[in-house]
Formats: sequence, C-alpha cells, structure tokens
Amino acid sequence: MERTQVVVPAGEIQRQRGIITQIAGELSRLDHPPLAMVDTYGCQQNVADSQRLMGMLRDMGCDFTQDPFQADIIVINTCAIRDNAEKKVFGVVGQLVHAKEHNPRQVICLCGCMAQQEIVAKKIRESYRHVDLVFGPQALWKFPELLHEVLENRKRVFSIENVHGSIAEGLPVVRESNVKAWVSIMYGCNNFCSYCIVPYVRGRERSREPGEILAEVRQLVEDGFKEITLLGQNVNSYGKDLLSPMDFADLLAEIDKIPGEYLIRFMTSHPKDAGEKLFDTMARCGHVAKQLHLPVQSGNSRVLRAMNRGYTREQYLEKVRYARRVMPELVLTSDIIIGFPGETEAEAMDTISLIEEVRYDALFTFLYSPRPGTPAAKLPDPASREEKQAWFDRLLEAQNRISGQLHQAYVGRTVRVLVDGESGDPRWPLSSRTHGGRLVHLSGSADLIGKYVDAHVTDSNTWALFGEVRA
Ligand code: SAH
Ligand code: SF4
Ligand code: F3S
Repeated sequence: MERTQVVVPAGEIQRQRGIITQIAGELSRLDHPPLAMVDTYGCQQNVADSQRLMGMLRDMGCDFTQDPFQADIIVINTCAIRDNAEKKVFGVVGQLVHAKEHNPRQVICLCGCMAQQEIVAKKIRESYRHVDLVFGPQALWKFPELLHEVLENRKRVFSIENVHGSIAEGLPVVRESNVKAWVSIMYGCNNFCSYCIVPYVRGRERSREPGEILAEVRQLVEDGFKEITLLGQNVNSYGKDLLSPMDFADLLAEIDKIPGEYLIRFMTSHPKDAGEKLFDTMARCGHVAKQLHLPVQSGNSRVLRAMNRGYTREQYLEKVRYARRVMPELVLTSDIIIGFPGETEAEAMDTISLIEEVRYDALFTFLYSPRPGTPAAKLPDPASREEKQAWFDRLLEAQNRISGQLHQAYVGRTVRVLVDGESGDPRWPLSSRTHGGRLVHLSGSADLIGKYVDAHVTDSNTWALFGEVRA
C-alpha cells in the first residue's frame, strides 16, 4: 500500500471541518442548546477515538450528557473483542428505542469495531431500525460528512467498506482530563493471532509520522499534561511502514528529549517484537515509565503456536529476565486467555506455572471467546465451559495471591506518585499512580490533582495500595 494512499489529504480534513461548521449552524436553530452523548466500550484505542468524536461534536456546538433521553445525538463506540462485549452493546442499543420514541429527531450512531463487521451491520439494518448511522473505525474522520447526510436526508447511512485504513491528522479532540492524555502512534494490526478479531476490523498496520507524534506530545507537555500514553495494538511494530523507517525504541528516545516533568507510558507491546533495544532504551530514558504490559496469552508453547503468537514460553521468559536485569524496578503486567480451543488441563496449568515464575504485578484474564471469521473459531474445542471456568478460577486465585504479596511489600515505603483524580472514597479521597502504574488511594486535598507527590504507603490489598501524602 502506498503511503500517499494512507494519509488522508489535509484538504479532505479541511472539508470535514467545513461540514462541522455547517452542522453547527443547523443545530443552533434547535430550540435548545444541542446535547450529545458518547458511550465508549473496549480498549484505550476506542477511548482515544471517542475523544476525537467528542472534539468534532463539540465543534458542532454540542455539550455532553450521559442521559440518552436528553441527547440530540447519541454515539455508541463499540468493541468486538469478545462475545460478551458485543452482547452488552446490543442490550444498550436495544434500550435506545425508548429514547428515540421520546425524541424522534434524535440521531443514533453506532461506530467502532463491531460496526466494521458485516454480520453486525446486517443485524442493525434489519432489527435495530432506530439506529441512523453505522460506521467502522476506518471511517471515523468522515463522521461530519456521514452525520450531515443523515441530518439532511433523514435516511439511514451505513459506511463500513472494508478498507485497509488510513491516518487522519488534525482532527479536533476533547481530552478527558488535563493530567493524562492518550496519543495514538499507529493504527491497525498485522499479527493475525488466530483467536483475534482486531486485524479484521482495524485494518493493516500504519504508523503516524514521527514529526506529528513529537509535535502532539510537545504540545501536551506544554499544556501541563503529566502522563502521556502512546497507543497502538502492537507499538513494537511502529515505523515499519514509514518512508524513512524509524523503530519504536528510536521514537521513545526522541520523545524523551522533550523537556518537562512528565511520564511516557505505552501499550501494547507484542513480545515477539519487544527486544533488548527497547528494554535498554526504556532503562535509559528518564521520562519513560518502568512499566511494561507484555501480554503472554499462554504459558504453553504448543498453545502459543496454535495462537500464532510467534514466540515460545522460553523465549518469553528470556525477554522478561533481560527486561528485569536492565530495569530492576520494572512493573510487569500481562493478558491471559484460558480455554483456547484444544487447550488441555495440563496446558492451562503451564500458564499458571508461568505466572508463578514471572510474578506479574497484575493480570487481565479472559476466557476464550470464539470470534466468527477467525481461524481459531473453526478448531475443535472439546473442553467444557465448566472445566475452563475451573482452570480460570485457579489462575485468578494464584494471581490474587501474587498481587497481594507484591502490594504488601510496598507497605511502609514512600513512593513518588502522580495524583490523577478523586476516588469517591471519603477515607482516601484521591487516586494516584506510581511511576510503575500501580494504583494508590491517598488521603489529601483535591488541589493536589495533577501534581507529583511522595506517598507513604500504609496499607494494601490485591488491587491497590493506600497511603498518605508526605510533606
Ligand atoms: N494488541 C494487544 C491486545 C488487544 S486485545 C496485544 O496483542 O497484546 C486485548 C486482549 O484481549 C488480548 O491480549 C487477549 O488476551 C484478549 N483477547 C483477544 N481476543 C480474544 C478472544 N477471542 N477471546 C478471549 N480473549 C481475547
Ligand atoms: Fe489481536 Fe494479536 Fe493483533 Fe493483539 S497482536 S490485536 S491479540 S491480532
Ligand atoms: Fe475492542 Fe476494537 Fe479495542 S475490538 S479491544 S475496541 S481494537
């Protein structure tokens, strides 16, 4: 694919901005200030996409609401990663029929990864007739144009062509806080892990120009943001498609040169492409958090091969050993799938033995969910749901014990944290994160939000630490 075909021409984005202004004019004729509701499911990539959609809606003159009955425009940004994620969205969308009855001029939009699947679009077309606009992640930058078509003609619009995907620069954005920001550095995925839907709905890997990323990060630091998370399905593939190639470690080193008090995090790293150069760069760069989310998925090499992950258990463990050698304080987390088709009890126990060996700070654990159209969905899957659940419970038990022990070891220590918001708990009203990304509930006043402070840790449980601010 030619680079020129990937980057959306600036003139096109300008045209979308023109349509935004036009829509703003039309919405200003309503008898009330226009309100929009954006409901987001799935990963941080979707959260970042929703912030762009909100930017466009804000520039159309909208304020935001969480109440579907109040909203003039509703956008549901969906996730297709597992069946239960999809079921939840269908439930939510089904309920919206009442909001639409209440306000028949309301526009209901469904976007994100589910929308890119033809079977979903078909189901919406036939059975959810109150949905006006359906568009996939590839069409996000065209939202103004698509919305205008709905408003103008009062007809349903579906934009789910299966395109490879593009890069759109210069879209407006609403950041959720002024402390933390998400920066997408690349889109799509080429890995085709055999269980995963993402490559089918997010298109091929494409990297933003380093200059664009550096300018965005520089601006965020100037605006006072303290924590910037670089996003991609596999950030370690960054740059492979650029005209003048640059790898992810080089990008991190360039970002690190931007002066200021801030931390850089990133996710997700695919173990097959995460190597010594990345770990050495992380260790050397003062702004880069010593935190790594390195999804292993399974601790058994046969299952890893069937998953098409591109590494063995031993190779993974070797990478972890190296990363910890150069970053002894590294906070390490992972994703695990239990019950991949054909996985045996012994193989599932290999995953538990791996987590006992690595001792992750935290894990995200999932029961395998067949995704239509992926190779794994066609494999025989003899283990019962109950068996898989029992393995899953054993895994959780082991991880909860490990997380509890690792958290207990913080008690009595003083750690540097960034206060990032309020917790809602009167005893520990503030929430904060260590450099390694562990959650610390803190006592203290709200004027500390956005500041780095020293926290004395007094208590812990499986999920979090508790402490007080040290003057
Ligand atoms: N790009 C990231 C993962 C994105 S999806 C990576 O490769 O690390 C987040 C997690 O969802 C995956 O790591 C995997 O553990 C889980 N997942 C993906 N597809 C799944 C499926 N079909 N069933 C259960 N879990 C799945
Ligand atoms: Fe899915 Fe694998 Fe790509 Fe992650 S790397 S998004 S698990 S295909
Ligand atoms: Fe879900 Fe799409 Fe992210 S499927 S996990 S929202 S890339």
